[in-house]
Amino acid sequence: MKLADNKATLSFSNGKPAIELPVYSGNIGPDVIDIRKLYGQTGMFTYDPGFLSTASCQSAITYIDGDKGELLYRGYPIEQLAENCDFLETCYLLLKGSLPNATEKKSFTDLVTHHTMVNEQMQFFLRGFRRDAHPMAILTGLIGALSAFYHDSTDINNPEHREISAIRLIAKLPTLVAMAYKYGIGQPYMYPQNNLSYAGNFLRMMFATPCEEYKVNPVIEKALDRIFILHADHEQNASTSTVRLCGSSGTNPFAAIAAGVACLWGPAHGGANEAALNMLYDIQNQGGVAKIGEFIKQVKDKNSSVKLMGFGHRVYKNYDPRAKLMQQTCNEVLTELGLEKDPLFALAKELEKIALEDEYFVSRKLYPNVDFYSGIVQRAIGIPVNLFTGIFALARTVGWIAQLNEMIGDPEYKIGRPRQLFTGSPRRDVPPIAKR
Ligand code: ACO
Repeated sequence: MKLADNKATLSFSNGKPAIELPVYSGNIGPDVIDIRKLYGQTGMFTYDPGFLSTASCQSAITYIDGDKGELLYRGYPIEQLAENCDFLETCYLLLKGSLPNATEKKSFTDLVTHHTMVNEQMQFFLRGFRRDAHPMAILTGLIGALSAFYHDSTDINNPEHREISAIRLIAKLPTLVAMAYKYGIGQPYMYPQNNLSYAGNFLRMMFATPCEEYKVNPVIEKALDRIFILHADHEQNASTSTVRLCGSSGTNPFAAIAAGVACLWGPAHGGANEAALNMLYDIQNQGGVAKIGEFIKQVKDKNSSVKLMGFGHRVYKNYDPRAKLMQQTCNEVLTELGLEKDPLFALAKELEKIALEDEYFVSRKLYPNVDFYSGIVQRAIGIPVNLFTGIFALARTVGWIAQLNEMIGDPEYKIGRPRQLFTGSPRRDVPPIAKR
């Protein structure tokens, strides 16, 4: 970051002297006003719940232009990466800053591939869960538990520890997600098979059984790989900020990623694809396309808490570029599986069309986000609805690690410690219980 030519001046109407604040520029995007000395100079904090106007860090990984609907990983547009690269190349890019050449790609792929197994003890830990446990509850537990298995890589301040734990997390997440699924349905776990691609191996661990051969369908494999690429990183969103905040205390990478998984679970974040599909099911059960009007009415009603799930985004005030790619993938997968006339897809398209023309959505710049179509693709592949957020967590793990490692390597990093505007009772004395 570099100092901008101008400075910001903060003046007060009560006669307090004005102060000057430095302004910094990034390479693209809005400048920032440096308020780090504000408290020391004025005794005041800034107030920004929800971080609406606050840059919490500097980062060189992912850039979003929400007005244009643009998403760049290390400068490369998401459309080009989705078209020309696979997920592991994207992981390499996010972690290391540049795309791998053929040799680098091969050695990185080999490295990840040879860390896909989890400690055999993991399955006994899994057994402690009820069979109907939500996969996100299982994943939060299993990923946190990895720190108990890898004492050799839990020092976040050691670059070698950070590197090997990054590889372990990227490699083992598909195994753990598939194990959570198999446990829920009572099937034997499938061990990873290292001659398959990252997505192909995951499909096999999910859908194969030991009783017969499993052949990976290349269209589904590509679609899943694309889902992973599209979800790999998204700058300082809630779960990434959670990982950074958690990691800022110096905790180990597995614990920090488990915190990210817990945050992602919420329906306003990663849980939205599950919520979006459940919403489509509800509308379909109530009468399908004919009921869209009534549903939209409820969404617009201030007194109802109904939202059009898969619509709206804190940063995108235009079409989410990932949603366009996901819609294309959705078409490809449904065609491959002979589901072109899938009623849920037809319902989603109609709902989108109506919402995009409606004044309520237009004036609030509410467009479909990536979750609007990703649930339909995943359902068509055979992934159960309650595992959708687990797939998102699998894909986002690389982004979380890249951001965590960037933070630890930043000489300006400090433990995250927001302040508050206190609105509770001033000091008072505890009355005896008879007088309360
Ligand atoms: N349906 C109906 N109205 C909406 C929606 C929606 N999906 N999203 C926003 N609005 C309305 C709000 O009610 C508000 O209206 P008002 O100005 O009349 O009060 C206005 O649009 C602004 O919305 P905010 O909630 O202030 O926007 P914010 O940036 O805080 O929220 C969020 C963004 C959480 C994503 C929101 O749009 C939402 O809940 N969407 C549905 C859930 C979803 O799809 N989440 C996925 C996010 S993407 C991801 O995590 C991969």
